[in-house]
Amino acid sequence: MSKKILILNGSPRKNGNTAALAGAFADGAREAGHTTTSFALRELDIHPCFGCFGGGKDPHSPCVQKDGMERIYPAYREADILVLASPMYYWNFSGQLKCAFDRLFAVAECNAGYANPRKDCVMLMAAEGADKDNFEPVLHYYEALLRHMGWKNLGTVLAGGVLAVGDILGKPALEEARQLGKSLR
Ligand SMILES: Cc1cc2nc3c(=O)[nH]c(=O)nc-3n(C[C@H](O)[C@H](O)[C@H](O)COP(=O)(O)O)c2cc1C
Repeated sequence: MSKKILILNGSPRKNGNTAALAGAFADGAREAGHTTTSFALRELDIHPCFGCFGGGKDPHSPCVQKDGMERIYPAYREADILVLASPMYYWNFSGQLKCAFDRLFAVAECNAGYANPRKDCVMLMAAEGADKDNFEPVLHYYEALLRHMGWKNLGTVLAGGVLAVGDILGKPALEEARQLGKSLR
C-alpha cells in the first residue's frame, strides 16, 4: 500500500551527510511507490515551544506561534510515516529537529488527553563517532520518545564515521537508507 512519508531534515548543512541519507531513503521509498514530502528545517523559521499550553484550538493551525511550522502541520497531519533525519549533536538530535518536534505538541493539544496522532517512525542519523556505544544515548531517547508517542519504529540508519560534508558518499549507510525506504509496506 502506498504510504505518505514526511521527512524532517534537522541538519544545518545543505548538502550534508544527513541530507544524503534522507535523499537515499526518499529515493528508495519513491521506488516502492510511496509519496515523500521533505523539509529542510534550516530553511524554515521555526521557533522554540513557548510551553504556554495555549494551542490546540484550530487543528489546521494548532500552535499559538505562526511561523515555519505552518508548512509542517498539514504534512504531519497527512503523513503515515514520519522520518526524523538529523546529525548527531551531543548524543541527540540537532536543535533544529528538537525545536520542530516540540512544536508537534500543539497537534496533541487538539485531542482529549493530549493524544498523539497515530504514526510510524524512522530515524536517520549521521555522526562522527563510529562505534556502537556512540549511538546508545540517542537510541535510548528515540525508544522512549516512540513509547510516549505510541508510534512504531520502522527502522533506523545510523551512519557513523562521517564528519565533513561528503564523508558519507560511498558508505554502505546510503544503500541501507535506500533499502529501508524501499522496504516500507
Ligand atoms: C555542535 C555539534 C555537535 C556534535 N556532536 C556530536 C556527537 O555528540 N557525537 C558525534 O559522533 N558527532 C557529533 N558531531 C558531528 C556531526 O554529527 C557530524 O559532523 C555529522 O556528519 C554532521 O551531519 P551533517 O553533514 O548532516 O550536518 C557534532 C557536530 C556538531 C557541529
